[in-house]
Amino acid sequence: MIFPKNFIWGAATSAYQIEGGSQTGGKGPSIWDAFSTIPGKTHQGETGAVTCDHYHHFRDDVALMRQMGLSAYRFSISWPRILPSGRKTINKEGIRFYSQLIDELLANGITPWVTLYHWDLPLSLQLEKDGWLNPNMANYFAAYADICFEHFGDRVKNWITLNEAWVVAILGHGQGVFAPGRISDAEPYLVGHHLLRAHAAAVDVYRKKYQPRQKGRIGISNNCDWREPATDSEKDKHAAQRALVFFLGWFADPIYKGRYPETMVKRLGDRLPKFTEEEEASLKGSTDFFGLNHYTTMIAGHSDGTEVESSVYGNVGIAKDQDVVLSVDPDWEVTTMQWSIVPWGCRKLLQWIDRRYDHPEIILTENGCAFPDELVDGEVHDQQRIDFLTQYLGECHRAIDKGINLGGYFVWSFLDNFEWALGYSRRFGVHYVDFETRKRTPKASAKWYGDVIRRNGLA
Ligand code: GAL
Repeated sequence: MIFPKNFIWGAATSAYQIEGGSQTGGKGPSIWDAFSTIPGKTHQGETGAVTCDHYHHFRDDVALMRQMGLSAYRFSISWPRILPSGRKTINKEGIRFYSQLIDELLANGITPWVTLYHWDLPLSLQLEKDGWLNPNMANYFAAYADICFEHFGDRVKNWITLNEAWVVAILGHGQGVFAPGRISDAEPYLVGHHLLRAHAAAVDVYRKKYQPRQKGRIGISNNCDWREPATDSEKDKHAAQRALVFFLGWFADPIYKGRYPETMVKRLGDRLPKFTEEEEASLKGSTDFFGLNHYTTMIAGHSDGTEVESSVYGNVGIAKDQDVVLSVDPDWEVTTMQWSIVPWGCRKLLQWIDRRYDHPEIILTENGCAFPDELVDGEVHDQQRIDFLTQYLGECHRAIDKGINLGGYFVWSFLDNFEWALGYSRRFGVHYVDFETRKRTPKASAKWYGDVIRRNGLA
């Protein structure tokens, strides 16, 4: 599998999942610090207080990245590490930490890709301002983003505003399984709306104030599974389209077309807020690339209002708003997340995006799998992950052959880490982490991925 010359070979992480140091270096608390300490919210009450302790091990981690030959590393900045109370007072130690990390990456020939928000909202903004339910969040987010562009934009040329707005809306404010843990039928659409406005506001700051001289790119990463129609019937085909539109169109249509998808507007009525003309204009075209996080596929059939069972998060639906029944093929293999392994779903989704959004440059900012990896005699033989990556990268390659503009791939994750509500029970990393000693061991997949990168570099 030889990929185009400038293809970006990356790995990804996020602040709360790997950094630790949650009360170190002047960092303020985030909604995840609070949520994870509420009994029953996470697997065995686990938290991200220490996790991989990347805060103190970042130089070793960058050395491991170099060993693999990564061309890019995607990480997120913890907003409360920069602004401990969410606004105003800057924590200089936080600035210094990310500055050193960025310098270390560049010194090792690795391009930083920086996410501004990967779910760890400053707790103060939740308590004082109701978090993403508040329309003013767009201004707070833009002000925080401004500080990041100012301090890091001389060296960071690839920015991602938000990671997976869908998760913040649905899992954080619909199902309540992620911070801030709210359960509602209406809040997800309000929160989604304010996230989109916040994205546009940050992009506006970057484009007007920084992009002309810093010359970087800015985009957003949305998540989406593929939805395969249950049968050839028109009803099921429409159901699958609807499911994709409610998942990805919700966030990508406003950004590419300046408006919400028609079917959402019709079905949701007053629950879907409206953009002003000015907001539409600032949203339309507010991304320089299509960031996509993709993990799995489900089968979508038409539903006549029957309740739909939800499985492990990621596959939960906003079922009654969509009238879609989701299922999986029992023959599909699954990962520890119970997510089905369906490599062709990845290609079909890339093609769907290519058509709907007029051939954008797509960057797969996350793809990967969890397995019950074990360290045996100093080694982890994660052949299942190698198979997974071989097949998913194979479909990416096929997509490129078909003319899709796929510019890069970031494996999730660089390290085993804190997998949100599921704690440390899910190992996604290509490096094994012993959570007692924090020792890292490259898995067989890290070596394999390094070989793929090297072979491509030689081609
Ligand atoms: C994504 C998320 C990551 C990681 C991954 C695996 O939704 O961005 O933080 O947890 O899923 O579940």
